[in-house]
Amino acid sequence: MKNLAQKIPENIQKALALVGEAADELNYPAYVVGGFVRDLILERDRGFKDVDIVCVGSGIDLAHKAAALFKPRPKVSFFKNFGTAQFCFRGIDFEFVGARKESYQRNSRKPIVENGTLEDDQNRRDFTINAMAICINQEGFGTLVDPFGGIQDLENKLIRTPLDPDITYSDDPLRMMRAIRFATQLNFDIHPVSLQAIKYNKDRIKIVSQERITVELNKIVESPIPSIGFKHLFKTGLLKIIFPEMTRLQGVEEKNGVYHKDNFYHTLQVLDNLCETTNDLWLRWAAILHDIAKPPTKRFEEGIGWTFHGHEVVGARMVPKIFRKLKLPLDDRMKYIQKLVALHLRPISLTKENVTDSAIRRLLFDAGDDIDDLMLLCRADITSKNKQKVQRFLDNYDVVKEKLLEVEEKDRIRNWQPPITGEIIMETFNIQPSRSVGIIKNAIREAILDGIIPNEYDAAYQFMLVKGAELELTPVG
Ligand code: CTP
Repeated sequence: MKNLAQKIPENIQKALALVGEAADELNYPAYVVGGFVRDLILERDRGFKDVDIVCVGSGIDLAHKAAALFKPRPKVSFFKNFGTAQFCFRGIDFEFVGARKESYQRNSRKPIVENGTLEDDQNRRDFTINAMAICINQEGFGTLVDPFGGIQDLENKLIRTPLDPDITYSDDPLRMMRAIRFATQLNFDIHPVSLQAIKYNKDRIKIVSQERITVELNKIVESPIPSIGFKHLFKTGLLKIIFPEMTRLQGVEEKNGVYHKDNFYHTLQVLDNLCETTNDLWLRWAAILHDIAKPPTKRFEEGIGWTFHGHEVVGARMVPKIFRKLKLPLDDRMKYIQKLVALHLRPISLTKENVTDSAIRRLLFDAGDDIDDLMLLCRADITSKNKQKVQRFLDNYDVVKEKLLEVEEKDRIRNWQPPITGEIIMETFNIQPSRSVGIIKNAIREAILDGIIPNEYDAAYQFMLVKGAELELTPVG
């Protein structure tokens, strides 16, 4: 029998030995289970901050008894109704529960829970790789209990359910998302029978709260190669239920022998490309959404071919509805994504040879501090299979980057505010806040961005007087 004691980090080993001592006193078999065991075997050290302990007995009693052996003694929180308890020791969360047997009702994720054996408990878990247990009683400390071949599945890189997948997924449909999430995070395959069961049970995802679905979706987006997950979500039919706008990107249409690219697979390619350069969840979401309005803006124009005019503007407008539905944050993070979607075609227009400083200034002004993220998105958006073409585009962007730096150095437009404020305008003409103030302020900003006047106070002041006169305003004093 495999003993994993030596693999456990020393601090946790010591803590588990104390819990085992407490369990021995209570005469409970006790085990560490779930993600901790999986990550330990995978040597996937994510800090090991959560340790789930199952005992054949009362989890609450074990937590109290164990806490008394720790120095300093941690404070135990417990939920009588759920039979669970928890304490935190030196930054690590120890969760306790009694082994249980669960049965589920058709319309709820909430199971009816009864006490059970370790085997019952392992049976009710989601995947074989999450259903392994390590004994922590003094006798047998470190022994692995792996009834479903979890180790084998880790070696084979396979997501498989301990029971018939129809039962596991129907019991708790969130597990369909979890299967896809683990497959994406770990780059594992999903067992074909399991995939089939997800297809079959997909509609049951509707009984899961949007918040929980989105937690899993974001974990997919944060994975090294998120396309793995999106392809599974698409092929199983889950994506159509949880994020239909994205599935509409899929497909290729032909007219007069002219095709357009499949925007679903293109989007996934952009996302994967971007993930090589950033871990930022929201920048990754910008990649997912950058072409989201291609389907509603698609036209076939004689002599031109397929066009998607205005998809960047329509796309930016679609973001709030999608965010609301997915319960993603409706704050600055959403605005940031809207901005990137709206601007994602702009850098390409700057790759033209005779681009003016004013066009560069405008992009710097519109993108502000997000200019670097926008450039990362644009670089990721090059998905041609022709290597030379890709290189040419990337070189073009290097030139744009140079120009952006040059102009920024000269004009400091990023996060820039025009030298004449609304207050100065109001004082100068002795007027209240009004439309005229806005008109003059805009005119000054535009003139500076267009290079009509320099970015200096005196020039802007003179320009303000001229604009004021056009509006029949006279300066006081
Ligand atoms: N579990 C389950 N079904 C669920 C959620 C969890 O069977 N819907 C079980 C699994 O055995 C899992 C354990 O509970 O390993 C702990 O769940 P959780 O903390 O959500 O996930 P981890 O497996 O620890 O993985 P991660 O930390 O990556 O979320």
